[in-house]
Amino acid sequence: MGFCGPSSSVLLPALLLLCTLHQTSAFELETNQTVSLLVDASPQSGRVIPEALFGVFFEEINHAGAGGLWAELVSNRGFEAGGPNTPSNIDPWSVIGNESFITTSTDRSSCFERNKISLRMEVICDKDGANTCPDDGVGIYNPGFWGMNIEQGKAYRVVLHVRSSGSVNISVSLTGSDGLQKLASSNIIEEASDISDWKKIELTLESQGTNHNSRLQLTTTKRGIIWFDQVSVMPLDTYKGHGFRKDLFEMLAELKPRFIRFPGGCFVEGEWMRNAFRWRETIGPWEERPGHFGDVWMYWTDDGLGYLEFLQLAEDLGAAPIWVFNNGISHNDQVSTSVVLPFVRDVLDSIEFARGPSNSTWGSVRAAMGHPEPFDLRYVAIGNEDCGKKNYLGNYLKFYSLIKAAYPDIQIISNCDGSSHPLDHPADMYDFHIYTSANNMFSMAHQFDHTSRVGPKAFVSEYAVTGKDAGTGSLLAALAEAGFLIGLETNSDVVEMASYAPLLVNANDRRWNPDAIVFNSWQSFGTPSYWMQQFFKESSGATVFPVKVQSNSATSLIASAIKWQSAEGNDNYLKIKVVNFGSDPLNLSVSVNGLENSINSLRSTKVVLTSANVMDENSFSAPNKVFPEKTRLESAGTDMAMVAPAHSISSFDLSLAPLVSSW
Ligand code: AHR
Repeated sequence: MGFCGPSSSVLLPALLLLCTLHQTSAFELETNQTVSLLVDASPQSGRVIPEALFGVFFEEINHAGAGGLWAELVSNRGFEAGGPNTPSNIDPWSVIGNESFITTSTDRSSCFERNKISLRMEVICDKDGANTCPDDGVGIYNPGFWGMNIEQGKAYRVVLHVRSSGSVNISVSLTGSDGLQKLASSNIIEEASDISDWKKIELTLESQGTNHNSRLQLTTTKRGIIWFDQVSVMPLDTYKGHGFRKDLFEMLAELKPRFIRFPGGCFVEGEWMRNAFRWRETIGPWEERPGHFGDVWMYWTDDGLGYLEFLQLAEDLGAAPIWVFNNGISHNDQVSTSVVLPFVRDVLDSIEFARGPSNSTWGSVRAAMGHPEPFDLRYVAIGNEDCGKKNYLGNYLKFYSLIKAAYPDIQIISNCDGSSHPLDHPADMYDFHIYTSANNMFSMAHQFDHTSRVGPKAFVSEYAVTGKDAGTGSLLAALAEAGFLIGLETNSDVVEMASYAPLLVNANDRRWNPDAIVFNSWQSFGTPSYWMQQFFKESSGATVFPVKVQSNSATSLIASAIKWQSAEGNDNYLKIKVVNFGSDPLNLSVSVNGLENSINSLRSTKVVLTSANVMDENSFSAPNKVFPEKTRLESAGTDMAMVAPAHSISSFDLSLAPLVSSW
């Protein structure tokens, strides 16, 4: 693969691999090795990159959605997480008060048909008399997902369903984690006749203080039996009121993703079919959703972030939705092809739900949920990582033929890798996943160089450096991934789409390392791999040009050049990206040939992502340790002398003046 000595051939991507041991002396460090980058920016050399090359992959893993992007603050809001049998575990709910004042249990008396469990709370103390309740009352509390983030001046919508054997006076409050700091409260006072049957109570609490580790308390000082079910606390301040936590939504939006693949990953498959994601169970009023236990990542989701909310997320991000559905195969069991038809019909219904007219059977359900306009669903993936499993091909072909017959325009993605040999079945794209070491990832810039230029294109829907090179998100990992992405840009005639994985991690529940965005109840930061992706957000739909790299000794450098236009169409840029994967800084001599526009050096910039140590990571205490630094590119022109720091990715963004017409 590698070669040594001067190069005169055009390299796509332009990569020089380290193939001799390069002795670094102090003299060399001062002078730096010089590498020439020859960019051919003539119009006839350019090729248009697919419109949706770079996007994001959202999986319900690491509490990415429940306790993450989905802003619901109550965990296990319907008391269903302990299973359908009673008695059941109500975790993370807990009791306030001891057994001489209060006892709790679960029963199956809920008014909701698909989630029958509710909480029964028997209060045996009273306001006065022989067994007087503590002044602050007794009851239950929910700490949310490792603490609720409650902020001063912000409003929270509380909804709960209540029933009682008599009149009630219940305090609904947001407090600190030990209950002592009172942030907001309100009382539910109801006569027995009004609450003898289930009643939905809604109230808004405005917080008088800030505590990132808060809890919801439901307490009383009045004897009686009270049942609770479907208890929700939602901040009013979510993205467009659509329920997405704002800081996390904005971090996603900053990547300008052109697609979003959802909801998994292995989450779609399940360890067992009975625990796989079922779209039908995640639509309709939130109170009526049964929720489910994701047995791959081993946690319960109330499914507030359901199928419609995923489609809404895509729409809000301006990203094409890519619906990955279970194809009758989990990690441990499979539906045989002879009986898979009901699963195919279920998926056809899901497509109608997304894009059918509002008077169609399933389109009308969507309309009733507040979205009469169809969603722009144009891509589906048949399963996740299931190629080669016994029933995959048979099941795949059933799904493929019936979806194509009903929706000929939908692009169908196969789980089988077609990068090295042709697929034995029809597909519009094939899924390609890669988790590997940094060196492997960097050299995989060439993965698609020899892929057949005809046939289905690649969807690299999961890529990341993992293991010791990555830790929980290192600069080294990000640089190797950047090299890989430059290879994908260069090969974007056969690679249609690509996304990093996983996207989000709640630091309290790391199921997978590393991830692009790390958060807790109130903070969030990007790993170097997140910031690396920002270097590629203009690539989708841009024009890529050949870059020739010349050096008189071996080095580890890869480069690409694209021309892109701002969304408003006013600004044009030539963006030259350079990844220096080596441990020595390099002098760059950049020549741009064939460019028709002149360069505006006043508006040209340089962005560099590097750090003192290649294993540096970001953290809550140092969120910007590895962060792209932007400066003016004063030397912008068709011939430039630059430096690519050791272990860095740099972007030279040349602002292009509009072309002057000849008459
Ligand atoms: O991204 C984490 C997991 O890696 C995904 O769920 C799965 O598709 C892959 O194995």
